[in-house]
Order: sequence, then structure tokens, then C-alpha cells
Amino acid sequence: MINIAVLGYGTVGSGVVEVINTNKAIVNKNAGQKINIKYVLDLREFPGDPVMDILVHDYDVILNDPEVEVIAEVMGGIEPAYTFVKSALEKGKSVCTSNKELVAAHGPELLRIAKEHNRNFMFEASVGGGIPIIRPLNQSVTADDVKSITGILNGTTNYILTKMSKQGLDFDTVLKEAQALGYAERNPSADVDGFDACRKIAILSSLAYGKNVNYEDIYTEGITKISDIDFKYANKLGRSIKLFGKAEKKDGNFYVFVAPVMIDENNALYSVNGVFNAILVDGNVVGNIMFYGSGAGKLPTASAVVSDIIAAIRNLNTNVAVEWTEEKLEIADFSTSKKRFFVRVSGNIDEKLAKINKVFRNVLVIKLEELDDEFAFMTDVISEQKYEEAASQIDGIITRIRVE
Ligand code: HSE
Repeated sequence: MINIAVLGYGTVGSGVVEVINTNKAIVNKNAGQKINIKYVLDLREFPGDPVMDILVHDYDVILNDPEVEVIAEVMGGIEPAYTFVKSALEKGKSVCTSNKELVAAHGPELLRIAKEHNRNFMFEASVGGGIPIIRPLNQSVTADDVKSITGILNGTTNYILTKMSKQGLDFDTVLKEAQALGYAERNPSADVDGFDACRKIAILSSLAYGKNVNYEDIYTEGITKISDIDFKYANKLGRSIKLFGKAEKKDGNFYVFVAPVMIDENNALYSVNGVFNAILVDGNVVGNIMFYGSGAGKLPTASAVVSDIIAAIRNLNTNVAVEWTEEKLEIADFSTSKKRFFVRVSGNIDEKLAKINKVFRNVLVIKLEELDDEFAFMTDVISEQKYEEAASQIDGIITRIRVE
């Protein structure tokens, strides 16, 4: 028998307890021994819940109990999670977490401490919820030079964009609906401003390239400026708009960004709709491989946490190597990143097209019959800097969306 503790009895924490109880026979068989949840830590009481028998409010009870060998940290946020996780690893306990803020901010340090104590720090649930992506990147895609990782990494924004695309609704209407359904937080900023996806692509790119990508260095743009009219153009072009977190290696440089991108049906991520997430990895020898599934939610996320608990138990006194050092990975200046741009302009096309063609060259014009006070165009592949310089010479630009 092995004793574990669960820190936090919220959505994911109660999911972890439920998965271990519901799938007891399978989980114990895969772990090679019976898993006993000795403690659950939470500040709250849960009258009537069987967890009351093992509920503690003082973390030191868990930290100082030598019988607890694996801890699942599912509280979220940096503190007190960071202090709890660090002290657990220093005490020789393995830790499994779903906490992307913690992993993005302190991942390489916690991995080093785990290695120094011959224990493990695991974080499968921190990206893509129930989708296996951390272990595959760390243990399977090891023979490849990863050319790029492109992810739809946030279920809330993918739900909102899918609704806007399929039902012609505007952003505010869909956001309110998503909040009413519990898909979006009352304060939706972490999701709609791209911060959540930013931390997730920082984790994935750090793992793929072996050095630390600081999430604060990543160009991050959310979906709040995407409108129902953008989708009218996208539909006419046979395209969709998705929030991408992307890391790519180009000409010896590393580019990482989070931004809405217009894609066509040839892109493998085109059909990833609703709350689903997907991650497309392009390796120089394996080619394209895609990971798809539920990126959030109680049981899918708990499934990933419990898979880490099982992996930690299978490797109790062995540190599973993770290539992610504290050395900083230099990200190239985003202004040098090159893409096509979709641009909407207010006013009369006949008055503006000559100037647009002069500064942008070779644009493809798109006109919607129902809108006579604006038009759009698509540029060739140009750098961000070149786009900004050219755009500053055109009056009436409403919006621009990158195109892949
Ligand atoms: N808010 C996140 C999402 C939860 O919408 O994807 C999972 O990290």
C-alpha cells in the first residue's frame, strides 16, 4: 500500500478522489500497489462528504508524515502551492500537479529539486487537461528536432470562437452565454486575454527545446477584439479563426506567440471545435502528430493527475529524466516574425486600393456584399515590423488578424 495526499478539494481535487475510487481496481493494478488517500487538505469543511474523515487544514500534518510518499497539488495559483510543493520535494515526496501557473513560473527549479532528491515532479494535467502531451513530449518525441508546436490550448476561448463562427454571434453575447453555462469565469481575463494559453505554450516549448521559456517574454494577444464581422469574412474565405499558442524554430531562431489566427481547412486544427483542445507537433523525422481531447473539466483533468500519481508510484525511487533546464531559451524578437495578414479597412475601396497596393504590394481584396462601408485585404508574407510600418500609412484600418 502507498499513501498519498491531495492538496485542494475543489473541482480537480474532488475529481482526483473520484477517479481513484471509481477506477480503484484499474488504478491500483497500474500502480502495482493499493493507493490509499491518507489526507485531503482544504481550508473548508465538507459536511456529509466521506472526505471529512481524512480532511486536514494544516499542511504540516502532511509534510511531516513520512508515510505520505506522493502528493497531488490541485489548488492552483502560485502561493501557497509553490511553498507546499517545494517543501514536499525537499522532504523526499514526489509531487503531481495540474497547476500551470506554478509549472510555468517555477517548473525547472522544481524539476531540479525533485532530481536532487531522486523523486519526481510531474505535471501532465497542466496543459491540455486530460490530453496526454507532457509525457509524450518528454518520453516519446525524443528522436526529433521539433520544428513547431501549435496548440488550441484554451477550451473557453475555443468554445467562444466556435459559437461565433457557427452562429454568427458577437463576442460579448457568447461570453455571457459561456459564463452562464460555467464554461467561462466571472472574470474571464486569464482565458480571453490569452494568459492561460501563454503559460501552456511556455511549458510545451520549454519541454520541446529543453531550456526555459519565460512566459513573460511571449507575445500574447487574446480574442476580445475578434468580431462577428471578422467571421463573416472568414466564412467567405472558407477559413476559421482560432486562438493559437505556437512555438516554432525558424532560421535558427525560436518564435513563440499566442494570438488569434485565421486558418483554412488544410490546417489539422481547423476542425477542433467547442471546448476541445488539440496540440499539433511537427518533428523533422516523425512529421505531424496531433493530440486531441478534453482540455479542461473535472474528470479529464483528474484522469491526467491520477496518471501522474501512478507514474510517480511506478518510479518511487527513480527520477524520470525531464529535459527542461533553468537556462533561458532566447526567444526571437516578435517584430521579425513573418506571416500573412488579413486586414479590414473602413471606407471606399476605390479611393484606398491604389495606396494599399503601393505600401503592401500584391494584396488580395475581399469584399462582402452586405457591407458597403468597409472592405478587407490579405497581404503576402511579411514581418510584423513591415506590417506595422505599412499599416501606419493607411487610414481607417479596423483590425488585422494573422493568417496561417
Ligand atoms: N480555463 C482553462 C480553459 C481551463 O478554458 O482551457 C483549463 O486549463
